[in-house]
Amino acid sequence: MNLSHYAIGLALATTLTAPAGAQSTPGTAHLARNLAATCANCHGTDGQARGDMRPLAGVPAEALMAMLNGYRSGAIPATIMHQITKGYSDDQLKLIAGYFAAQTPRP
Ligand code: HEC
Repeated sequence: MNLSHYAIGLALATTLTAPAGAQSTPGTAHLARNLAATCANCHGTDGQARGDMRPLAGVPAEALMAMLNGYRSGAIPATIMHQITKGYSDDQLKLIAGYFAAQTPRP
């Protein structure tokens, strides 16, 4: 029996269901908020950055994903984000990016 087929099927199933329902089901929205909260220590609550951090709130999800993938692959040099991004699955990063994109930046 080939376990990797099972894993690929599972990954496909999540990829196919996640985008459409990403923000629409209460469970997923809750998960997105909890995941995004793990970024709050450094990026501020709901991505409302203080100090010299640039805000994540209101940044389009595609732009956030481009940066996160860049950190994860090493394409964008980083002090810490290359390590942090490796701790999340693609689906988790998509939920996080969607969450921050949906926040309204506060001045
Ligand atoms: C320990 C502090 C810390 C945590 C936690 C953290 N970040 Fe970062 N983040 C940074 C730093 C520092 C940078 C600047 C790049 C670098 O040096 O790693 C950064 C940069 C970024 C950028 C680029 C912003 C821009 O406009 O250039 C994005 C996007 C980002 N982080 C997203 C996240 C997300 C999403 C999470 C949660 C999954 C997260 N970060 C958690 C410290 C953190």
